[in-house]
Amino acid sequence: MTNERNIPLFNLQKQFDSLKPELESACLKALGSMKWLLGPETKEFEKEFAEIMGAKHCISCSSGASAIQIALMAAGIGKGDEVITTPFTFVATTTSITLTGADIVFADIEPETYNIDPKKIEEKITSKTKAILPVHLYGYPANMDGIMEVAKKHNLIVIEDCAQSHLSKYKGKTTGTIGLAGSFSFYPSKNLGACGDAGAIITDDDSLADKCSRIRHSGRSNKPYEYDYEGSTLRADEIQTAMLRVKLRHLKTWTEMRNNAAQMYNKYLKDISQIKTPKNCEDGSTQSFYVYTIFAEKRDELSKFLTENKIGNSIYYPKALYDQPIYKYMGLSSKDFPETDLACKSVLALPMYPEISEEEIKIIADVIKSFYG
Ligand SMILES: Cc1ncc(COP(=O)(O)O)c(C=O)c1O
Repeated sequence: MTNERNIPLFNLQKQFDSLKPELESACLKALGSMKWLLGPETKEFEKEFAEIMGAKHCISCSSGASAIQIALMAAGIGKGDEVITTPFTFVATTTSITLTGADIVFADIEPETYNIDPKKIEEKITSKTKAILPVHLYGYPANMDGIMEVAKKHNLIVIEDCAQSHLSKYKGKTTGTIGLAGSFSFYPSKNLGACGDAGAIITDDDSLADKCSRIRHSGRSNKPYEYDYEGSTLRADEIQTAMLRVKLRHLKTWTEMRNNAAQMYNKYLKDISQIKTPKNCEDGSTQSFYVYTIFAEKRDELSKFLTENKIGNSIYYPKALYDQPIYKYMGLSSKDFPETDLACKSVLALPMYPEISEEEIKIIADVIKSFYG
């Protein structure tokens, strides 16, 4: 093992180097257009993203967090309503709920997929429940048949948080197209990342799409200085959508490359009994591998060992949301969420980016083997 070796968790540099001339010229074109908000690049990006996702509409916005908030607001969720979601997600999933005025209700996850468990959702339904907000964590599609069945039975809206699942498929359907709407993040490290913040909502519902596009634009109606809805300044800017258009052309290939990398990890890690590799998708479902996450014995020690050996790694997520200081008021305990609690103590994300090589994956596997002896 050489000291110069350094395998990062994400590698944005490789992608940037390969696209530099295209990104620079797209950036200059967007700048020169003088249409820096909701201009031609944004309109084209929205068309192209909707098409690749198999949705009727795409409404770009300022971030993945605002995408969730806008979709919930457009669906009429607000004060007095409850939204059921997973406690094993990035905090933006839940802050986007409370920013609408609604309350968060947590339901535990399924063990191997780390996604919300439809059976646990049903236990949490009250007369105030209005929506379910599943997250396709790590790109692994949530159990949408189970979720949609509960939603249908109780007349609930489903908004899918697809911040980590660009182009993942659930039984042949792209995630984000199964519920009423799907929200996406284009945070730089995401499978489709802007050169800054951006996000989008996709939906087949004409009226929801119209409402989303107004809410992100200060709630404007078609008449100047008249407002139909309360909204805010939540647009994506033209330079970011121009960057995203360049990158979108590569998303399918990058997704395949991530998938190949995951298969290589599966191959090289399969004999290590102290870890579990990600569950395989079945029935026409596919995972787009935003991160490659293992379930590991002695997780914290392994993480430290990888870091000492200059191998990037991270824990998504070390602390469940009900344990976060902001949600202490809910008075929840890890005893009520045994699967989330176990996942927080055991998961570890290994380096994942389209360009990661077989050689790098083999090195990572060898370091993990040497850790367990
Ligand atoms: C599951 C999940 N939801 C929401 C978000 C929020 O996205 P953004 O950072 O673009 O606001 C993220 C991004 O990190 C995420 O991973």
